Amino acid sequence: MAISLHNSTNIPRVGFASPFLGSNSASKVSISVSLNSFSNLSFKSVETSRQQLYRISAMSKAESSSSNQVKVDISLSPRVNSVKPSKTVAITDHATALAQAGVPVIRLAAGEPDFDTPAIIAEAGINAIREGYTRYSPNAGTLELLTAICHKLKEENGISYTPDQIVVSNGAKQSILQAVLAVCSPGDEVIIPAPYWVSYPEMARLADATPVILPTLISDNFLLDPELLESNITEKSRLLILCSPSNPTGSVYPKKLLEKIAEIVAKNPRLLVLSDEIYEHIIYAPATHTSFASLPGMWERTLTVNGFSKAFAMTGWRLGYIAGPKNFIAACNKIQSQSTSGASSIAQKAGVAALGLGYAGGEVVSSMVKAFRERRDFLVKSFGELEGVKISEPQGAFYLFIDFSSYYGLEVEGFGKIENSESLCRYLLDEGQVALVPGDAFGDDSCIRISYAASLTTLQASFERIKKALISLRPAVSV
Ligand SMILES: Cc1ncc(COP(=O)(O)O)c(C=O)c1O
Repeated sequence: MAISLHNSTNIPRVGFASPFLGSNSASKVSISVSLNSFSNLSFKSVETSRQQLYRISAMSKAESSSSNQVKVDISLSPRVNSVKPSKTVAITDHATALAQAGVPVIRLAAGEPDFDTPAIIAEAGINAIREGYTRYSPNAGTLELLTAICHKLKEENGISYTPDQIVVSNGAKQSILQAVLAVCSPGDEVIIPAPYWVSYPEMARLADATPVILPTLISDNFLLDPELLESNITEKSRLLILCSPSNPTGSVYPKKLLEKIAEIVAKNPRLLVLSDEIYEHIIYAPATHTSFASLPGMWERTLTVNGFSKAFAMTGWRLGYIAGPKNFIAACNKIQSQSTSGASSIAQKAGVAALGLGYAGGEVVSSMVKAFRERRDFLVKSFGELEGVKISEPQGAFYLFIDFSSYYGLEVEGFGKIENSESLCRYLLDEGQVALVPGDAFGDDSCIRISYAASLTTLQASFERIKKALISLRPAVSV
C-alpha cells in the first residue's frame, strides 16, 4: 500500500493507493482523510486491513457531506474496469449526434431492423395496457408466453421443454449475461469464435471468467474449425458460445459442422454450449437453421437463447428468453429475481402475438426477410466489384462483414493514413458520412461491419459514398 501525505487548504491529509484492487491505475482506491478530524488515526492502524480501509472510506464520504475538505472516493470496481464499452453503441451515438447537428449521415451501424413492429403485435401490446395487464409478471415470465415458447421450440426447433425450463427476460442480452453468470466460476474459460458479437467477451469478464477467442477465416465463411476448438479445450473450459446466424458475419453453421462440434463437446463433461439463435428466422434459403440442443446428446448441456428483437422488429420491447436443463435455468431465474424481476407484462402479451403469427413468423416475417435478402444481394454484388475487397456472402442476419484490409496503409490529404478498421470507419464517417462499425470491435480488425437494415435506396446511396471515399485513398508517401 502506498501512503502519501499532501497538504491542501492547510489541512494535512493521507492518501492511500490500495493494491487490493489490482494494478490498473483506474482501479486504485484513493481516499483522502483530514487528520484533524481523525486524530486517533495512525498510519499503522490504517494499514492493518482492507476492512478498515473501507470503513475509513465510508467515514470520509460521510464527512464530505458536512465539509468540502474531503475528496470523494471515485474508484470503480475492478470488474467494471476490465470491461470495454460497446463500440457499436459508441458509433451509433456519435452518428446520431452528427445527424442531430444537421450532418446528413447515413447510419448503418446499429443492429436493429428498420421495420416497425408488425401492427398485429403492436396492437396486442396496446390491448394489454387497455385490459389492465400492467402489473408485475411472474419472475420467469407469464405461463401464457412460456407455453407459447415451449410450443415454438418443439415445432420449429425440435427441442422439448416444459415452462419451468425457460426464463423470459428483458431481451436476449440479459438472458445471455444471466447464463454466463450462472454457470461460470472465477477463472473458467469461455470459448468464443471470432468474429463475435461484441458483448460475449465482456460478459465473460463480468463473470470473472476468461474469454478464449478462436479466430476463424473469411475463406471458411467465418465458421469455427472443429480441430482448433478441440486443441483449445482445457479443464477450465466451461462454456462455448455459438451464434448462428451470426452477428457480425451473417454466417450460418451447417448441420454437419454442428454435429462435428457436438462430437468434440461430448467428450468434455464440464463444457456447456450457449447457442445464440436470435437471428434464426432471418436466414436465406438454401441455408437452414439447426438448433444445437436438437443434436444427439446436446440437450443436457445446451442453453438456447432467442428473442423477439430481430425477427419481429421488436428491439424496443425488450423481450428475450433462454431454455435449458432445469438446474441451469433455475439459476438464471434466481439471478433475475434479485435484479430486474419479470419482463414487461405488456411486452409479454406482444410476444404471445408474435409467436401466434405462425411457423417462423409466417408471412409477416418472411416479407421482411425477402427485403433483407434483396439488400444483401445488392451489397454483395456492388462491394464484390470493388478492387481489393474480400467478402463471404452472408447466409443470414442483416450484416455484411467486409475485409477492407487492402486499404490499410493508404492515405488521403486532410485525413492522414488509414491504419486499421477504426481509422477506416472514422474516415468513412468524416468523408463519406456513412456510419459503420470497425471489425476490431468484433475481434477482427481486417473487416468492417455494414448493417443492411436500411432501404435499398439508402444502401445504394451509401455504397456510392463509400466507393467515392475509398477511391480517394492513395499509397502513403514515405518521408
Ligand atoms: C447476436 C446477438 N445476440 C443477442 C442480442 C441481444 O438482443 P436483445 O437483447 O435485443 O434481445 C443481439 C443484439 O444485437 C445480437 O446481435
